[in-house]
Amino acid sequence: MNTHDERPALQALNALYGRRAAVYDYELMPVAPLRREAIAALDLQPGETVLDIGAGTGLSLPGLCEAVGPNGRVIAVEPCEAMMRQARERSRADHLGAPVDFLAAAAQDAPYEAALGERRADAALFFFTHDVLQSIAALERALAVLKPGGRVVAAGLAWAPPWLPLSNLFVLGAAAHSVTRMDGLDCPWRQLEARMKEAEVERRWLASAYLLRGRR
Ligand SMILES: C[S@@+](CC[C@H](N)C(=O)[O-])C[C@H]1O[C@@H](n2cnc3c(N)ncnc32)[C@H](O)[C@@H]1O
Repeated sequence: MNTHDERPALQALNALYGRRAAVYDYELMPVAPLRREAIAALDLQPGETVLDIGAGTGLSLPGLCEAVGPNGRVIAVEPCEAMMRQARERSRADHLGAPVDFLAAAAQDAPYEAALGERRADAALFFFTHDVLQSIAALERALAVLKPGGRVVAAGLAWAPPWLPLSNLFVLGAAAHSVTRMDGLDCPWRQLEARMKEAEVERRWLASAYLLRGRR
């Protein structure tokens, strides 16, 4: 069992994503259809509050903001300064149509309550956030501020079965420069699924990626 409760190595994260931030949006372009699918799977309604955990450069923000509208709220959690800077710039430049709170913190320590007040979030997105999903502390902290029955969607890379070696070559190459630890890629959603009332997982991209939809 993965019990990666230690705090993320912020230096390692800043080094990894600080380097990638400038080209990140281009690198992630092929992922756009899966991102749209993940956001749609959250089934967001106008006025709802959604957490974007490991928000990166904010590529999910336009879709999330559009779904919750001006009376809703998006809470973007991101510890890497360079990635967060771009997310903030995106929200300024794109007039996203919903208020966004930026929490410059790791998911393990994010001050969710400061943004949520007395409320709880309706939904949470973990999009290509393998490091977060391997941390029980990060998951429990985020799930604690979700309403009972709150919707959760996660998507990311996962090892394919061994008879799909090209898929695994792709996972190896992509993961090598997007995660700080490779373990858990056989079933990245294991710890999250264990904390859901219900969850279903589907595979995508010749089994090199997955999409989980669940309820807390
Ligand atoms: C592959 S990027 C995905 C970014 C974004 N979700 C997207 O869809 O493009 C992974 C992000 O997770 C962030 N991350 C890593 N560990 C984290 C943690 N413990 N808490 C919150 N975010 C974390 C990284 O800094 C990085 O921006």
